[in-house]
Amino acid sequence: MSHVLEFSFHNPTRIHFGPHSFDRLATAVPAKAKVLLLYGGGSIRANGVYDRVMAALAGRTVVEFGGVEPNPTLETLNRAVDRVRAGGLDFILAVGGGSVIDGAKFVALAALYDGDGWDIVMGAHVPDRALPLGAVLTLAATGSESNSAAVVTRRADLRKKVFYAEPARPRFAILDPAVLASLPDRQLGNGLVDAFVHVCEQYLTYPVGALVQDGYAEALMGALRQLAETFDRRREPDWQQNLMWAANQALFGLVGAGVPTDWATHRLAVELTALYGIDHARTLSIIQPWLLRETIEYKRAKLEQFGRRVFGIPYATAEEAIAATEALYRSLAMPVHLRDTEVRDPDAAARVMQAVREHGNAALGGHAELDDAKTERIIRAACA
Ligand code: NZQ
Ligand code: ZN
Repeated sequence: MSHVLEFSFHNPTRIHFGPHSFDRLATAVPAKAKVLLLYGGGSIRANGVYDRVMAALAGRTVVEFGGVEPNPTLETLNRAVDRVRAGGLDFILAVGGGSVIDGAKFVALAALYDGDGWDIVMGAHVPDRALPLGAVLTLAATGSESNSAAVVTRRADLRKKVFYAEPARPRFAILDPAVLASLPDRQLGNGLVDAFVHVCEQYLTYPVGALVQDGYAEALMGALRQLAETFDRRREPDWQQNLMWAANQALFGLVGAGVPTDWATHRLAVELTALYGIDHARTLSIIQPWLLRETIEYKRAKLEQFGRRVFGIPYATAEEAIAATEALYRSLAMPVHLRDTEVRDPDAAARVMQAVREHGNAALGGHAELDDAKTERIIRAACA
């Protein structure tokens, strides 16, 4: 039977892209807003972004909250929620990468919820409102600046969890590629790979004849592949603006609309960050090749298409497509096994598998019919 495309698509985030996008900030934030300015560890102070933001917000009440960690924690974000309440603040401005923007989404939701904010992360409370939120993006990777997802970690029990909340989608996002100039190489590589895997997760399943979604996914992955092949030009503005737009488009909602998706790589990889603090993108490059090998028969047709159209391999086999993917990650000095990182834990595979089981991700099912045994083989291959 043919596949019936059915979906609702609405992405209301207004994106201001380009060298003049900062000029829009002053009008994008309401003149009477009492703003919580949320940011991370201080990179925005070193690279001038903080000064540009403060200049745009002149005349408004602005309360700062810095120190949102990479992989933001509930514990820190709850303190930001307290700050919003104490100051009667009514607008959240996130200035940073995915961690700060995700954190801002949580704060915008939790500030209007009387219960424990963790309920929102766990889905025990489904919020229907949030404080208005805007984003100034400083790291191209997650697409958080215009999607409804957020990932929060509870430090107390090393639980890192994604949730989705439509009211927390940013009203606007400022994307000035020039701000990427201060990123270290490692974060440029991370961003490229995170975006690439986001498209993979919405594409590498089985063919359903969705010409638009497939074509767009292939265009985005092809662009990201070109950026990987020209990584020596990563300091050039052209390169950086392409990364910024590709990473946004990878996860703004269109690629996966109405087609089968498989987020298993993300669902398993999260534990490597929770347990060992490995950068998000690097957990993906560790898990994904092994997951693809384990599920190759289920994904064969799409892997062949991927090999032909994204990597340009004539008559590509699924095996060749996986090898090309792994080679792309290696070319960016990304790990493709836990041993490629600094982690030295002989019990890693068992520990990761235990966390995967505890968090209900050991038998995700899906089109590749992931069960406990397959999941354990993936984790062992990647981590033992
Ligand atoms: O803390 P600051 O000072 O901002 O420094 C950050 C941080 O150390 C630094 N940085 C950011 N912009 C910079 C900069 N340094 C110099 N110049 C700049 N312009 O980079 C480091 C990493 O930042 P972070 O925000 O943690 O990175 P990323 O954007 O990769 O976000 C990762 C988080 O997003 C989640 C991940 O799980 C992780 O928690 N994700 C969110 C998603 C979503 N909302 O849709 C989807 C993703 O799959 C992902 O799970
Ligand atoms: Zn990701």
